[in-house]
Amino acid sequence: MSDFGIPQFPVARPRRLRATPALRRLVRETRVSTDHLVMPLFARPGKGVRRPIASMPGNFQLSVDELVKEAREIHKLGVPAILLFGIPDKKDAKASGAYAKHGIVQTAVRAVKDAVPELLVITDVCNCEYTSHGHCGIVHKRRDGTLDVDNDATLELLAKSAVSHAKAGADIVAPSDMMDGRVAAIRRALDKTGFEQTPILSYAAKFASGFYGPFRDAAESPPQFGDRRTYQMHYANGDEALREVALDIAEGADIVMVKPALAYLDLVRRVKERFGMPTAVYNVSGEFAMVKAAAKNGWLDERTVVMETMTAFRRAGADIIITYWAKDVARWLAA
Ligand code: PBG
Repeated sequence: MSDFGIPQFPVARPRRLRATPALRRLVRETRVSTDHLVMPLFARPGKGVRRPIASMPGNFQLSVDELVKEAREIHKLGVPAILLFGIPDKKDAKASGAYAKHGIVQTAVRAVKDAVPELLVITDVCNCEYTSHGHCGIVHKRRDGTLDVDNDATLELLAKSAVSHAKAGADIVAPSDMMDGRVAAIRRALDKTGFEQTPILSYAAKFASGFYGPFRDAAESPPQFGDRRTYQMHYANGDEALREVALDIAEGADIVMVKPALAYLDLVRRVKERFGMPTAVYNVSGEFAMVKAAAKNGWLDERTVVMETMTAFRRAGADIIITYWAKDVARWLAA
């Protein structure tokens, strides 16, 4: 009250709404649910194989029989989808394993869809796990003599892979190669072969990132020479990311992705606001490994920071979260 009895503008007290768990619950803006989660899995040849991935504790290269068990458990936990990667027996310059009828991913898809038909199977469509040189496409010599990935020759392989995945029963195909025009090429190929209803989740804004380190161990796919900077985007470029997303939508992408996640949440927000599309983030291997390493040292609490992170993805606008923590998050949410 002023001296004259007139009420002053009240002091803002945001803490009023933080006073009790019930109040905090009532005003909470963002929630994470198991419905958003996708668990990545790695299939390899063999039987009874569970080969631990050193830099990604709790993750394994799985033979198809083991992968099916894992898929059952994931489904039981309520996680709606898995994202499949394959580590083939043999690699070559043309990535033949990527589109072989009885390739590792195709075999894994059939087995999972057979055993757990309700679980959505998303397949990563790329060549880097299948090429001897570890690049995401066909390598050719440029005019100046340097080596590079041949964009248009690679499109053909990607389209063939996507169709082979769909034939094996994949519910969604997810191209991660960053070639120009790949969404259009895949869409056309799927439509021509009777898979008009198979959605494309495009890794639309995918950056050349240091955060993929552990994945390349897991998938045995590091480039044998050079790097991926002639096809993946530079981390400095946000407007360019929006142009990439716009192109993929124009070419027929049904879901768009930003990858990696943590250092790119500004783009998740911009993509969601600009396009209003179903938007995915990929919480990549390096983001996983950092927290695992710190938690192992007792430097932070894994569950606390993971839930904080998942909530941040949702707050930024992500509808779909691809994360190696999918099973843990599902368990924590159920507890
Ligand atoms: C294949 C692909 C990569 C990842 C997903 N798909 C590796 C890369 O582009 O080098 C990375 C996923 C992760 O780090 O968890 N192109």
